[in-house]
Order: sequence, then structure tokens, then C-alpha cells
Amino acid sequence: MKTNETALISGASKGIGRETAAYFAQNKINLILVARDFEALKNLANEFTEKNKIKAVPVSVDISNQIEIENKIRDAIEKIGGIDFLINLAGYPLDISLWKKMVHELKDDEILKIMHVDFFGSLRLVRECIPYMIKNKKGVIINISSIPAIDGDIEGAAYAFSKSCCITLTKFIARQYGAYNIRAYTVALGSIKTNSTYDKLTELEKSQLAKETSLKRWGEPIEIAKLIYALTRDDFSFVNGQTIIADGGVVMH
Ligand SMILES: NC(=O)c1ccc[n+]([C@@H]2O[C@H](COP(=O)([O-])OP(=O)(O)OC[C@H]3O[C@@H](n4cnc5c(N)ncnc54)[C@H](OP(=O)(O)O)[C@@H]3O)[C@@H](O)[C@H]2O)c1
Repeated sequence: MKTNETALISGASKGIGRETAAYFAQNKINLILVARDFEALKNLANEFTEKNKIKAVPVSVDISNQIEIENKIRDAIEKIGGIDFLINLAGYPLDISLWKKMVHELKDDEILKIMHVDFFGSLRLVRECIPYMIKNKKGVIINISSIPAIDGDIEGAAYAFSKSCCITLTKFIARQYGAYNIRAYTVALGSIKTNSTYDKLTELEKSQLAKETSLKRWGEPIEIAKLIYALTRDDFSFVNGQTIIADGGVVMH
């Protein structure tokens, strides 16, 4: 088992990001853990260092802030000794009232505040990591999208605008940096059972979303963690720029 690879995982303090970080740690990947909640990241880093015998660096960054990223991410990469994988899992929290707004009701700043985390946050981290990956001629970048960004929906427009930019970001990375052996993927998620999503819905909404899938259930964060890990492996060495839909079989094409 390899022990010399490093992943930067944003959104590592909770939800799918935390689950993914734990799975990477079990697989002996060193970690740069990024989110705003430093206490949560520090506790995770300590746990992984002790239990999994890996290097783990907690970095408290608001990814909507370019200056904070510039000041902290490069230092963390230098400290841990390089970067092989960037997993852009941080996302603006589900805001039900914003989620329900029709396109004509959305204000520019409501769209922009999501963009600043989900899209620009991902892009800013790409900017920090790509130069190291070019130098090493090796890297995998995974951006996170969502099925309304592919298929549209009757709700969630502001969020979907941002998540569709993440798909385009992946395609540009794949085409511009493929010659440097850098691969990029988008993982477009359906309904995944995290506290910040599942717990905000009514019982009726939860069961309706399960029924929409062909598997008739919500996805578990560990299923996404395993998918993301698999994409970083050499098994996917000739696949680049693709969107992998992990939604239990709602959108099929
Ligand atoms: N769960 C689902 O059903 C679902 C479906 C489709 C897509 N997704 C996407 O999958 C990703 C993970 O979802 P999740 O359910 O695991 O979300 P979550 O539990 O709400 O976790 C979001 C993570 O993003 C971090 N974050 C939020 N704003 C940030 C900021 N400004 N700067 C740095 N970090 C920030 C949070 O940490 P701090 O609060 O500590 O900063 C947290 O670690 C998101 O991109 C989400 O949009 C999820």
C-alpha cells in the first residue's frame, strides 16, 4: 500500500468531506484538511495521525476568500511535502428558502454567495494545486456537482448554476493539463445522507427523494468516499474530464 501520496480535501470538517478524509486516511494517503471549523479539523488530523499513521495538516480557510487561500494553502502544501490529489468537496450549506426561489426571484448576490464557495472556492484551490501537479507531472482533481446542474430541476437554481460551472471547470482542467498527466473528474451527486442535507428535510421530502432513485434509497457518504478514492487510482488512468453521476440511478444517459 502506498504511503507517499497527499490529498487536499476541502469540506473535510463534516459530511461527505469528513467521510472521504477518513477513507483516504485508512488507505494511507496523507491529508491537508480544509474547512473553516479549525477545532473539528484539528481533532480529525490528530485522530488520523494516531490511528492511521499518516501526516495530516488541518487548515482553517474560508474558501470564499482569495487572500486567505493564498496565505495558507501553499504553506500547507510545502509543509506536508507536495500534493497529488485535490478533492473539492466544500459547499455552501443548504438554505431552504433560497432553494425554493424561482429564477425570476433570485438576486445576483444570492447567486454570488453560493458561487463564491462552490465554484470560485474550487477554482481558487485548483490555482494553488495545479503548479505543483504540473511540476510533478501527476495529479487528480475532483470537483463536485449535483444532478440539477445536469438535468435542471424545479428548485435549487442558484445552487445548480454554481454546480454547472464546476462541470465546466473539470473539462477545462482535463483539456489544458492532460498533457501533464493531470486528470480531472466531476462527481455529480444525488441525495446523500449528510446531517446538513437529510436533517433539514421533512419526512415526506426524504421519502420522495428516495423514491425518485432506481435504488429506492438515499446514498451514504461512505459510498461517495469510495468512489472518489477509486477515481484517484490508476484504474482510471485513461478516463479524463468525465462527469460521474452518483445518484442511485435518477439521471441516466
Ligand atoms: N449531501 C447531498 O445530498 C449533496 C447532494 C449534491 C451535492 N452535494 C455537494 O457535496 C458536497 C458535500 O456535501 P455535504 O452534504 O457533505 O455538505 P456539508 O455536510 O454541509 O459539508 C460542507 C463542508 O463544506 C465546508 N464549507 C462550507 N463553506 C465553506 C467555506 N466558505 N470555506 C471553507 N469550507 C466551507 C464545511 O465546513 P465548515 O462549516 O467548517 O467551513 C463542511 O466541511 C457539497 O459541495 C454539496 O454541495 C451534496
